[in-house]
Amino acid sequence: MRLSSNPNPPRGRLRALRDPVTITLDGAEVQAERGEPLAAAFVAAGHMTIARSPKFHRPRGPSCLRGACDGCLARVDGAPNVMTCLVPAGEGTEVVTQNRLGPREADVLRMTDWFFPDGINHHELFAGVPGIQNVMQAFARKVAGLGKLPSEAEAARPARRRRVDVVVIGAGASGMAVAGRLARHVHVEVLEDHLEPGGSVAALGPAEARAFASIRSAFDEAVSAKKVVLRTRTTAGGMYGRDLLVVGPEGAEVLEADAIVFACGAHDGALAFEGNDVPGVMSARAGGWLLARGVLVGDSIAVVVPEGGGPFGASFARAIGEACEAAGLAESERPGVTIAHGEPVRVRGSTRTKSVVVRTAEGEQTIEADAVLVDAPRSPAYELPAQAAADLVHEPRGYVVRTGDGGRIAPGVFAAGEVRGVLLDAKAITADADAVAAAVLASRVARSLP
Ligand code: FES
Repeated sequence: MRLSSNPNPPRGRLRALRDPVTITLDGAEVQAERGEPLAAAFVAAGHMTIARSPKFHRPRGPSCLRGACDGCLARVDGAPNVMTCLVPAGEGTEVVTQNRLGPREADVLRMTDWFFPDGINHHELFAGVPGIQNVMQAFARKVAGLGKLPSEAEAARPARRRRVDVVVIGAGASGMAVAGRLARHVHVEVLEDHLEPGGSVAALGPAEARAFASIRSAFDEAVSAKKVVLRTRTTAGGMYGRDLLVVGPEGAEVLEADAIVFACGAHDGALAFEGNDVPGVMSARAGGWLLARGVLVGDSIAVVVPEGGGPFGASFARAIGEACEAAGLAESERPGVTIAHGEPVRVRGSTRTKSVVVRTAEGEQTIEADAVLVDAPRSPAYELPAQAAADLVHEPRGYVVRTGDGGRIAPGVFAAGEVRGVLLDAKAITADADAVAAAVLASRVARSLP
């Protein structure tokens, strides 16, 4: 990967590290910005293969940067199966890749994939064959699965039960907008499983993110004024009646909220095409999120925008030019970026992408690329609202939460933003947040009446 002419920017970055720390990957030192996701540091350093698939040992790399794929799983400081995109880098953080025999990039167990090109039914393989059955089982148990038990057993910690006024799940555009409005009237807690708020907006280039600036600043002011409690790295794990199970750095809690607002956003679109799991294939949203933090995903980047996709691919293609300009990179030092509108057909590469074939209106186009950003249509993250008995409607983009006026799902339970089909558009998100916040406040008044 090329270097910028900035003063001493590390490999794969557009700017010098402000607060550098040293982490390790399988014993090798990697420089990281303190607090950035471990996976971001690996991408910047060109380490794209982080994990292996459990059965065929196919190489896996970070794809979503938001805890929604298995491409970045590794053992972190003795704890197995950690999503390294959700763990902040600290001095001495030790990351060890799992589920491999031999080096990370040349796992010998990858042979399983070559010997069984049509798949393997491990449940019945040699089952019932005396002698061989036992050997096969012992072998399968050794090579399959993910990770080994933690180095240290953690003591059980009881979950606290707590009452809150209003809990908003998700600190993306919609969650920030709803929380900003509610904070004028009630105490609000916002749960966000990522390391920072912003959601998809944080993956847009400056030109597109500008439209959301007032939402962001109102939210930041409410957090600074302690009218909103923002809890990052905190996952809303399940709804059980009106109990919300929450897991964060301090452990598990059960929240009883007067009102719950699901602002869970949308998942990256995952398209089925040959080689879609080759390390280097990422969502355009992930690529944009990394770029906003000065991390380059490759030297030659293909951005593929299928029908209905956007806005992250176009935003990335625009922003990377500006970012390279701002970083003082000469033309020859800048990553090459090719944007193609069409369907990805196949990606070539093993532990890193080499090329992608895209079917466009003009025919098939082959692009040499060590990173492929796919900007497929996103699907609403409906899973938690579904646990709260929300009605779902199936649309081409996936399941959309059907709500009543003001995003109402049930008494005291609401949905806002992309999860209920609102587009990622600042005006639409703002209008939706106004309606949802009004409905939440009205429901609280109604519930307090005798
Ligand atoms: S879960 Fe970490 S990159 Fe997808």
